[in-house]
Amino acid sequence: MTRFVPSGPLRGEYTPPADKSISHRAALFGAMCDEPVSVRNYLDSADTRATLEALLKLGAGVEEEADECLIRGVGLHAPLEATGGLLDVGNSGTLMRLLPGWLAGQPGGVWTLDGDESIRRRPMDRVAEPLSAMGAEIEVREGRFPPLTVRGARLTGIEYELPVASAQVKSCVLIAGLLAEGSTTVREGAPSRDHTERMLRRARVPFERDGARLTVSQVDELELDEIVVPGDPSSAAFVVTAATLVSGSRVVVKGVGLNWTRTGFLRIAERMGAVLVGDLEEPGTDADEEPVGELDVASAPLEGTVVEPHEVPPAIDELTLVALLGAFADGETVVRGAQELRVKETDRIAAVVDGLRDLGADIEGTQDGFVVRGDGSPLHGGTINARGDHRMAMLGAVAGLAASDGVEVVGMEAASVSYPGFQRDFGALLKGV
Ligand code: S3P
Repeated sequence: MTRFVPSGPLRGEYTPPADKSISHRAALFGAMCDEPVSVRNYLDSADTRATLEALLKLGAGVEEEADECLIRGVGLHAPLEATGGLLDVGNSGTLMRLLPGWLAGQPGGVWTLDGDESIRRRPMDRVAEPLSAMGAEIEVREGRFPPLTVRGARLTGIEYELPVASAQVKSCVLIAGLLAEGSTTVREGAPSRDHTERMLRRARVPFERDGARLTVSQVDELELDEIVVPGDPSSAAFVVTAATLVSGSRVVVKGVGLNWTRTGFLRIAERMGAVLVGDLEEPGTDADEEPVGELDVASAPLEGTVVEPHEVPPAIDELTLVALLGAFADGETVVRGAQELRVKETDRIAAVVDGLRDLGADIEGTQDGFVVRGDGSPLHGGTINARGDHRMAMLGAVAGLAASDGVEVVGMEAASVSYPGFQRDFGALLKGV
């Protein structure tokens, strides 16, 4: 149990840890290349370590130095080692859903992917279905859950309409498309994070976007040189929230990724009254590179807002923080169309509703979101259980810095899934007065 209490304003410069989504993709793409790929600022966390370990088992080389992670790939079509092997994804949904895209296109290969208790409750039929349609044989427990066994095959391209706005499913199908005869098209109802698309372009793969249709064609090899991973806007969102809520705060966030498919939370927070200055990428931008920049955040009073379903995908990992902002804001904050939160590391609608209510919030859950009402005064505080979810643990810590009596977080260690240096970074900002 770890206790967080109001400790004054957050002040100074802050560089968030490396982006988790881009780190997973950089390592995976590196392993699919023939030539070594240098990844700078690879995230050091439990999730991204699981990816390196899985790739090592598949025969890739990984050389870690202080400022570089060199991936010696096996090539896109290489006969992968350790057929019949068990790959442990730990807590990582991204690894669990992206890696089968590559493995599905290795004829004769058989692998089983499994992970922790939380991963075993997450739906995998969403990747099993398109990969089976492409010709691979995929087995999942009860037709839906891990462990997931993939038997590779010669794949055929498909046209696939995503049943949910999911970057993980989209990425899985696009990666399988690199190995599939002909072309593979994914249609997305709403844009989700596009890091895979940007990396495909940088790897000189035939890839096109036509509105909501993304098409990739079979290739022999990928060509990538150096990948520099930006700071994670999802990790920075905890500091942005704390600096907004704790009066007298002023933080300059450096080196943070500002890709528009990830900055939905910042736009929502701004609408609620947060004071944020930064060069956010224009929504709809179709680029090859990941934009990186600075954000200047100062504390401010907030008002409630309504988050509509189309705003959900670019803010998906930060919606629980919208609930926290809403609990300190004046008026009603409503989030709709966020039913995907129910199948994250935990049911995040239930976790945030129960958790914030115990801290004094007037909040209720709906089937696809929540409604929280505030009068602009702080929560009193109490105890929150992280339920093994890294983002719930960090939300509890931020709530403790702003709630009048502080917050005890049960299971704070979960933060190491994406942000092992969380407490150190907050400590430095709290001393930075
Ligand atoms: C991720 C996509 C999102 C997000 C997750 C990381 C990714 O999941 O919640 O933390 O790296 O592609 P979905 O694609 O399932 O929405």
